[in-house]
Amino acid sequence: MSRTPQASPSIPTTDVLVVGGGIIGLVTAWRAVQRGLTTALVDPEPGGGAAQVAAGMLAAVTELHYGEETLLGLNLASAERYPDFVAELTEATGQDLGYRRCGTLTVALDADDRAHLRELHALQSRSGLESEWLSGRECRRLEPMLAPGVRGGLRVDGDHQIDPRRLAAALVTACERAGVVLHRTWAERLTVVRDRATGVVTTDGTELSAGQVVLAAGSLSGRLAGVPEDVLPPVRPVKGQVLRLAMPEPAPASQSRGAPFLSRTVRAVVRGSHVYLVPRENGELVVGATSEELGWDTTVTAGGVYELLRDAHELVPGITELPLTETRAGLRPGSPDNAPLLGPTDLPGLLLATGHHRNGVLLTPVTGDALAHALTTGELPEVARPFTPGRFDTAAALTEQPA
Ligand code: GLY
Repeated sequence: MSRTPQASPSIPTTDVLVVGGGIIGLVTAWRAVQRGLTTALVDPEPGGGAAQVAAGMLAAVTELHYGEETLLGLNLASAERYPDFVAELTEATGQDLGYRRCGTLTVALDADDRAHLRELHALQSRSGLESEWLSGRECRRLEPMLAPGVRGGLRVDGDHQIDPRRLAAALVTACERAGVVLHRTWAERLTVVRDRATGVVTTDGTELSAGQVVLAAGSLSGRLAGVPEDVLPPVRPVKGQVLRLAMPEPAPASQSRGAPFLSRTVRAVVRGSHVYLVPRENGELVVGATSEELGWDTTVTAGGVYELLRDAHELVPGITELPLTETRAGLRPGSPDNAPLLGPTDLPGLLLATGHHRNGVLLTPVTGDALAHALTTGELPEVARPFTPGRFDTAAALTEQPA
């Protein structure tokens, strides 16, 4: 047997190598291996990343924004897949994902908020979405902990939640059970041979080669060395600070009304900032989130915590009584149009699954399906075609035209 040392030890080729083990990378790897593709994934801590911070709202309707109607189609397609996706992942792993079909209530605290919500309601109705306008009194009847000053709100029974930490853990288990090889290290650089992506070299010098590489590294996706400039995804970090509190157990129905602290997600725009309170079945209350363009900073700041508590307190004054159990900041992978970049790039062998910004948890099922389709056929399915990475080349080319 030869004992000649090699400069770069090489791991046998797989059909697919996924760079990044957040929920998007994991779901891509799981779906790829289910399609019969040998698959590996490289990440120092699979299951980590933004999912460890995210609240897990599945809010296709309540997070609708003007100008994002195309993204709405993808969001709705993914929301529709959620029940079957959760059932399949639960069956594959035996793990509870904290999926809760609880609905959402978006409320207005003053006349300006109410006008803004009325407009959102009109946009939702024009888009064929189900949401119901409620008076302040009706909102408080649904959620008695709401502040007496609530002026009205939108009840959206179709916007649910999942626990992203449980989702990430289950996807790691599902990948392992299905035969995805997990390399627990950093990818340092993409290897490109004769104008084709062929794998990565890791920080410990190992070469991982593959027929196709999927770059799914969240906010870090634009930073992988070796990716040619013209296919490097235009993804930037958007910081979100999030708090976790512990709700009291509801008193037994025999002793009192037995009402939970909150029974659905409650959200509002307070002085222009989004605030949401997501109550989990296990008693955790997630309060989020700031949206800050500060590069790679993940510091939890006194100002961030103060603003979230101040705004959440205006909505639900009783939160100041609750134990504050965790503060954390994560980085959303923002893209120029707030929508993901999915599928093949102009570099043969390199695909993207990144840029999910505020919707990574919601878009997990449809992303896994779309990437598996692209990896096996070379094309994106209809629903994902507007999100091809090449759309930004066109935009750049148009802006470069002389006026
Ligand atoms: N989707 C919630 C957030 O990004 O804060």
